Amino acid sequence: MTPTHIEHIGIAVSNLDEAIKYWENVMGLKCYNIEEVADQKVRTAFFKIGEVKIELLEATSPDSTIASFIEKRGAGVHHIAFAVEDTDKALNDAQDKGVRLIDKQSRKGAEGLNIGFLHPKSTLGVLTEICCK
Ligand code: CO
Repeated sequence: MTPTHIEHIGIAVSNLDEAIKYWENVMGLKCYNIEEVADQKVRTAFFKIGEVKIELLEATSPDSTIASFIEKRGAGVHHIAFAVEDTDKALNDAQDKGVRLIDKQSRKGAEGLNIGFLHPKSTLGVLTEICCK
C-alpha cells in the first residue's frame, strides 16, 4: 500500500462532551461533526488540523471495543488512520505481506469513509486504520 497522508488520529475518551470542551477550550479547535456509529458502538467527534483530523471516540455500550480499550489501557491515543486510494486493495496488500487483519473487507466508518483495521499484533503495537472516501 501507499498511504497519501494521515487521515485522522483516533483518541479514546471516557466522556465525549468533556473531551470536546478540552479540545475546543485548550487546543482552540472547533468540533465540526458529532456522529454515532451504531455497529461500532461509538459516538465520535471530529476536529480538523490542516489536512489531519482528530477523531474522539466514546463507547456507547460496555461491550464496545472502546470500552475494553479504556478498561485495559486507559483513555488516550487509540489508532492512526492512513488515507489510501482503495481500502480493500490496501488490506489485501497487507495480508499478502503476512499482516493479520481485523477487517478482511472494508466497511463503512464515520464520515462515510470505507475503513478497515490491521491487527496491532502485526503492526508493532499501533492499531492501524486504512481508509478511503
Ligand atoms: Co478512525
